[in-house]
Amino acid sequence: MLAVAARYGMGCSPRPARRLEAFSARHHPKVHTMPDALDLLTTRRSVKPLDLGGPPPSGAEIDMILTIAARVPDHGKLVPWRFLVFQGDARLKAGEAIARAFGADHPGANPEHLELERTRLARAPLVIAVVSRAAPHVKIPEWEQVLSAGAAAMNVVLAAHALGYAANWMTEWYAYDRRVLAALGVKASERVAGFVHIGRPAQAAVDRARPVLADVVTRFGA
Ligand SMILES: Cc1cc2nc3c(=O)[nH]c(=O)nc-3n(C[C@H](O)[C@H](O)[C@H](O)COP(=O)(O)O)c2cc1C
Repeated sequence: MLAVAARYGMGCSPRPARRLEAFSARHHPKVHTMPDALDLLTTRRSVKPLDLGGPPPSGAEIDMILTIAARVPDHGKLVPWRFLVFQGDARLKAGEAIARAFGADHPGANPEHLELERTRLARAPLVIAVVSRAAPHVKIPEWEQVLSAGAAAMNVVLAAHALGYAANWMTEWYAYDRRVLAALGVKASERVAGFVHIGRPAQAAVDRARPVLADVVTRFGA
């Protein structure tokens, strides 16, 4: 565990590593692989939810993912986000609300399609939704609060991959459906930044084309 903690500390001060070690000791996470940070950042890619299998992350691993997700830049320290965790049977309970809303809008839907909707959140063993609580504020623009929720969602993705899982940040239609969101306990003032699907990848993901830096980078003044 010390070696794992040292890698998490990434060789700067020993304090982060010690903190992680203490966290690990408290929660006994089962760490599967621990890719180097730069390997992770340069090779990570999303995996389709249906290709994300079990066994699911342990409780300690989920706590670690959430701890990392909550450690993001947050102008004004407003904590303008929260997390909803779906695991086990709760995934299908949430799926009932998704299927109900879909069925109401598509009365002629066949049973196979309704089942697909019911199992939306059960494709991967774990789904973490990032809920944005951005709201008007005297000093901090709402836009910056929304960006912080995006950072939290990306940290969920990265933390899952760092633990040896794969992830996929998705919204799909139900992230925007107020009937579904109400059934999941998401308030009218909140929005879902994404449902991050997490599991063990069935196979290594083939990369997709990435933007050419020259197309997206301007060196100001050059
Ligand atoms: C806010 C947000 C919502 C997304 N929603 C979906 C979605 O509903 N369905 C989907 O196939 N991909 C969605 N994606 C894209 C995937 O998360 C992912 O970026 C894509 O599969 C490319 O994979 P990569 O992470 O390897 O670049 C979304 C991405 C973001 C940032």
